[in-house]
Amino acid sequence: MKMTVRMKIFAMGLLLLIVGNIISLTTQVYTAGLFDQFQREQIDEIYLSASPEEQIEIVKSYFLDKMEMNVLLRASIFLLIGLSFSFWISGVLTHPLKKLVAAIERVAQGDLNVKVPVDTKDEYGKVAQAFNDMTFRLREAEEARRRLVADVAHELRTPLSIMQLKLENYQQAGDHVPPERLLRIHDEVIRMTLLVDDLHVLSLAEAGRLSLDRKQLDLTVHLERIVEDLKHEAEENGLDICLYSKSRPLNVMADARRITQVFFNLLTNSIRYTPRGGKVTVEIEDEVGDGNALFARVSVIDTGIGIPSEHLLHLFDRFYRVDKARSRHTGGTGLGLSIAHHFVKAHGGFIRVASQPDEGTIFTVYLPSGNDN
Ligand SMILES: Nc1ncnc2c1ncn2[C@@H]1O[C@H](COP(=O)(O)OP(=O)(O)OP(=O)(O)O)[C@@H](O)[C@H]1O
Ligand SMILES: [Mg+2]
Repeated sequence: MKMTVRMKIFAMGLLLLIVGNIISLTTQVYTAGLFDQFQREQIDEIYLSASPEEQIEIVKSYFLDKMEMNVLLRASIFLLIGLSFSFWISGVLTHPLKKLVAAIERVAQGDLNVKVPVDTKDEYGKVAQAFNDMTFRLREAEEARRRLVADVAHELRTPLSIMQLKLENYQQAGDHVPPERLLRIHDEVIRMTLLVDDLHVLSLAEAGRLSLDRKQLDLTVHLERIVEDLKHEAEENGLDICLYSKSRPLNVMADARRITQVFFNLLTNSIRYTPRGGKVTVEIEDEVGDGNALFARVSVIDTGIGIPSEHLLHLFDRFYRVDKARSRHTGGTGLGLSIAHHFVKAHGGFIRVASQPDEGTIFTVYLPSGNDN
């Protein structure tokens, strides 16, 4: 049976009470037996011929004599049982704590690879389990931090070394540097600044500390504007871009700037990863139920190169690119979807993706609809 620490202490108290009661009961029975024995053994000529005071003295000394050993024996038994119980309960209380304290000390010294064995299902078992869960989360966070630092270093190292090389060459040549060459370096600096800004906002969003300036927003009007802004870029890439809305106005409580970035990231992906002659479509739908909640649904559909299914699971990870060589060539850093995911999540929504290689991809954004969200 699963016994909690509280139940164990209660059981110990109960057992001591029972033992105490048994001892006092047997004492009563023993004393009653002594009277019978006294009657049989001691009521003789001497007793009967004694004065009442002497009779009381005889009774007293007889009982004291008999009881002395008995009381001593019972008290020792009770003491022994009490001590064993106390010893047992102190073990129950402190033994698991000792292991936990040792593990906590190791964590305090920076060792996150500690695990406390979960031997029981009582309160201590729960504490040990919670402790193991905590160190697991800490290990995960530490791993994420290490990965982030390595990723950032990797992303910044290449452009920085290219820029350094170019600047050194210009310096050694000693000639006048044409502005268009400096412009290329300037572009690279802008790209890196954007990357650092993206990383900053992403780390805020990941930590759940992204500030949102939520206002009532007509999603249809807002998306029409974004599509209009990207029309030129799509046409330059030989793509047709259009928007269908089944409901207008479609109000959501959202931060317009963050929402713009979400759809900007999704649409630039569609434009980037769809070959010439393709099509990018934005479809807006109101009130899609997911359990009890209602969502506005926006799908960004393209007829592009698609994404193999084994990549779908990692698509929203920071710096994740399906085809690293191709993406780098086209200038992607692999932050766009991660940012979109976290921004939508901060609004209480979520993104789903469905894709077929060589046929196209659909990213569907669900945002809580109505004015109460
Ligand atoms: N619509 C799409 N069609 C095909 N592949 C896509 C699409 N959207 C995203 N991907 C794949 O997912 C990867 C991650 O996308 P994400 O937007 O996060 O990064 P990116 O576009 O490479 O860089 P950036 O940080 O500039 O957005 C891309 O590199 C690409 O391989
Ligand atoms: Mg992108």
